[in-house]
Amino acid sequence: MRIGILTSGGDCPGLNAVIRGFAKYVYNQIPRVEMIGISDGYGGLINGEAKMLKESDFSGILNVGGTILGTSRQPFKMMTVEDQNGESKLDLMKKNYKKLDLDLLVTLGGAGTHKTAGLLSAAGLNVIGIPKTIDNDIFGTDVTFGFHTAVDIATECIDRIHTTAASHGRTMLIEIMGNKVGWLTLYSGIAGGADIVLIPEIPYDPDEVVRTVRHRITSGKAFNIIAIAEGAMSQQESKMKKTERLQARGGDATATNQLAKYISENAEVETRVVVPGHLQRGGSPSPYDRLLSTEMGSFAGKLVQDGNFGTTVAMRNNQITYNKLADIAGKTKFVPEDDQMIAVARSIGISFGDGKKFKEIR
Ligand code: F6P
Repeated sequence: MRIGILTSGGDCPGLNAVIRGFAKYVYNQIPRVEMIGISDGYGGLINGEAKMLKESDFSGILNVGGTILGTSRQPFKMMTVEDQNGESKLDLMKKNYKKLDLDLLVTLGGAGTHKTAGLLSAAGLNVIGIPKTIDNDIFGTDVTFGFHTAVDIATECIDRIHTTAASHGRTMLIEIMGNKVGWLTLYSGIAGGADIVLIPEIPYDPDEVVRTVRHRITSGKAFNIIAIAEGAMSQQESKMKKTERLQARGGDATATNQLAKYISENAEVETRVVVPGHLQRGGSPSPYDRLLSTEMGSFAGKLVQDGNFGTTVAMRNNQITYNKLADIAGKTKFVPEDDQMIAVARSIGISFGDGKKFKEIR
């Protein structure tokens, strides 16, 4: 059996641990396996860049960050657009799948990767996905590998900011990754003891943020910690189209700097912005993510063994399982307004900048 494997989209801790878990399962449990590593995500499949891997290539990578296969972003909307020869990227991937004589393709990636995996599967290729992303936004799975390591890193950033914020009596805004969803900001914000958590799913009122900052100061706390997602937006911005929003921000991709200025002018406090950025995706996976990655990788091996294609690995209620690609591709798992952790946060007085009070914990 010839298995092609690729990692696509933004990298994250745990990719190599999944690759290793998968490879170890198939070498141990399936006779006569050949593993073909496809370079740099779907880009490698489009351009036919791949190489045969040896069993030893999968050793010593459990705790190594990034991906031994390389990765790239290939926008889904370009997949079916034809080039000057009348061929689309989808056509080229189908062609190279055949040329490489693959029996199946394993794709490790996030929401975009799953969309393309769904497209390839619908086009007749045998595909199995494994859900990666620090954003934790893949539909149909409670958790994606890489998310918890990013929570650990972002929490450590917030912890470190806490001490300097307290020393200077400043209001610090820490911009956490997540341009569409707020899972990472929500979890690291709570774990890091943030006073205000701003996520894309709950547009904020800047005046309410100012009120919360002032309230803390008048109650004797000299500093404020605001965990703000890359994709957070004000209530006013939430009514705009993305392009209008960017224009209104005067060239800034995120709302963070503008909000920091607004707070400093209206709450009369000193503000600073911290952007940990790609640090949140770098380095070694946490032990939790090594376990999850190994479990997800080996389960993908089981799906191969069972010939269960057109699927992607998932974790639901602590049980490893799978979804049909056709059921989840193109859907996003947003933070629901009635999420348990939102209720927990509100119950201990964390503000989401919307002025809403705690109702109940499910
Ligand atoms: O999807 C993961 C993610 O890290 C997002 O949180 C972030 O907005 C985006 O990727 C950054 O992408 P890039 O690495 O291409 O700058």
